[in-house]
Amino acid sequence: MLNAREFSHRLLQEVITPASTVIDATAGNGHDTLFLARLAPAGRVYAFDIQAAAIEQTRQRLARHALAWPTEPAAPVTLIHDSHARLDRHLPADEAVCAAIFNLGYLPGSDKSVITQGESTWRAVESIQARLRPGGRIAIVAYHGHDGGADEMALLQRRLAALDARQWQVLQYQFINQPNCPPVCFGISKKAPERG
Ligand SMILES: C[S@@+](CC[C@H](N)C(=O)[O-])C[C@H]1O[C@@H](n2cnc3c(N)ncnc32)[C@H](O)[C@@H]1O
Repeated sequence: MLNAREFSHRLLQEVITPASTVIDATAGNGHDTLFLARLAPAGRVYAFDIQAAAIEQTRQRLARHALAWPTEPAAPVTLIHDSHARLDRHLPADEAVCAAIFNLGYLPGSDKSVITQGESTWRAVESIQARLRPGGRIAIVAYHGHDGGADEMALLQRRLAALDARQWQVLQYQFINQPNCPPVCFGISKKAPERG
């Protein structure tokens, strides 16, 4: 079975088309940014991170890919060194989005002192919801083994479970018999408006 990260990619892969606009809300080391850029070569990726080191890691990963695979097109990526909570300051007001990914927690290989926080994560989720095209999806991979992780996950669980089922489909994907707090994937899909 797919792990949470693989499952998040599967969810987005099913809806991203070559010309999609997509968001990586937590760029980190750039794995997800590159994944999105390859799925939408004629589209655009906006990638956020609050840490300069993460933005630089992501920039380098994209550059290495372009060198190694010059014939494989990838979307232009706008790297944004800011909190995803301020997403609306960085995207044009009328920019609609097809998909977004969050990989919560801390930057792997860093000192774990900078982590995503429930309230700012939720502000970003709401900004993306407002821009999401019908059929569009948001995938959130949440870790609950580190300090603060369980609180963030509980906040997301509560608020996602309360989304209006007429407009949103929401799922939670997790292994329930594994040790060491395996991550959880939340999937949010915007329903097409019902014909009246
Ligand atoms: C688990 S890592 C992301 C891994 C990344 N998706 C990858 O593919 O390598 C989480 C990232 O979220 C970033 N972060 C924490 N708070 C943030 C915020 N408010 N806005 C944007 N990024 C944030 C951290 O700096 C860290 O790089």
